[in-house]
Amino acid sequence: MSGSLSAGTADSVASAGPCVVVVGSVNADHRIETVRLPAPGETVLGGPPAVLGGGKGANQAVALARLGHRVALVGAVGTDPAGERLRQDLAAEGIDVTGLTGADTATGQAVVLVDPHGENCIVVSPGANTRVGPDTVRAHGGTVAGAAVVVAQLEIPMDAVVEAARLTVGTFVLNPAPAAEVPEELWPHIDVLVPNRVELAQLCGAPVPRTAEEAAELALRLPCPRVVVTLGGDGALVVDEEGTLVLAPPVVRAVDTTGAGDCFCGALAGALAEGRTLREAAALAVRAAGYSVQHSGAQAAMPTREQAGLPETAGPPAPVAR
Ligand code: RIB
Repeated sequence: MSGSLSAGTADSVASAGPCVVVVGSVNADHRIETVRLPAPGETVLGGPPAVLGGGKGANQAVALARLGHRVALVGAVGTDPAGERLRQDLAAEGIDVTGLTGADTATGQAVVLVDPHGENCIVVSPGANTRVGPDTVRAHGGTVAGAAVVVAQLEIPMDAVVEAARLTVGTFVLNPAPAAEVPEELWPHIDVLVPNRVELAQLCGAPVPRTAEEAAELALRLPCPRVVVTLGGDGALVVDEEGTLVLAPPVVRAVDTTGAGDCFCGALAGALAEGRTLREAAALAVRAAGYSVQHSGAQAAMPTREQAGLPETAGPPAPVAR
């Protein structure tokens, strides 16, 4: 949970400057473009398959690294060729992967179908991601505690997420994806919650909000004072101490929305680690996600600062926005 923002000791990450730790999943994405997403019982033909780096945790780590942030990833891959390949690819992005455990099971896999409008449909077989537990997180407790921002998603077991939140000294950001019930003990540790509208609806036990106003009404019901709702083609909604703010997206033609939420979360976490306010961070994240939807793949579509049109990194680390 949040406290002082200066990065303290870290197990494996050098001590200078702000750092973001991602605690989350790593998958191999089997991506196929289809003429339309199949209905139940329907078979549709698709294009050639591609195997790409994925997993919400890894995607967010790549987004952070491409935007120039110092990032460490805590998670697990299998001790299979896919796991080794993904580990190498993530390391090549400049991500500290010493927190990536090798589990004696298959690496997580996802089947990703993408239609001509960029909409997707994803099934995840979590494999090694299920082996990420509180012990995995504790083994890198210094790294987690030394981070300006820690970001987690829900593709790993909940007790690992709770442990990450408990060990966080900086700002804890939760992206509750895929949607799941958030245990009571976790809520007080969440500084910023970043759901999409479906996840928001599930957390509130309500129908999916159609408008930003409806989303704001739901976000205000949550026991979390700072919520950023990603609204896809409608941008994002910030609900914080100052009230609500809707951030319009850039006008773009989406070709693949896979990983756009991850791009948003990574960019948001990185901007918070630079000391930007939540509203500033969300505005930058909208821009970064606007770039990602115009490109295919999850990690493949993560922009650099220049590609996303983001300002240069703020100088020396400022206290992280609260
Ligand atoms: O958010 C997109 C990601 O969800 C994909 O990369 C897939 O692996 C699943 O985790």
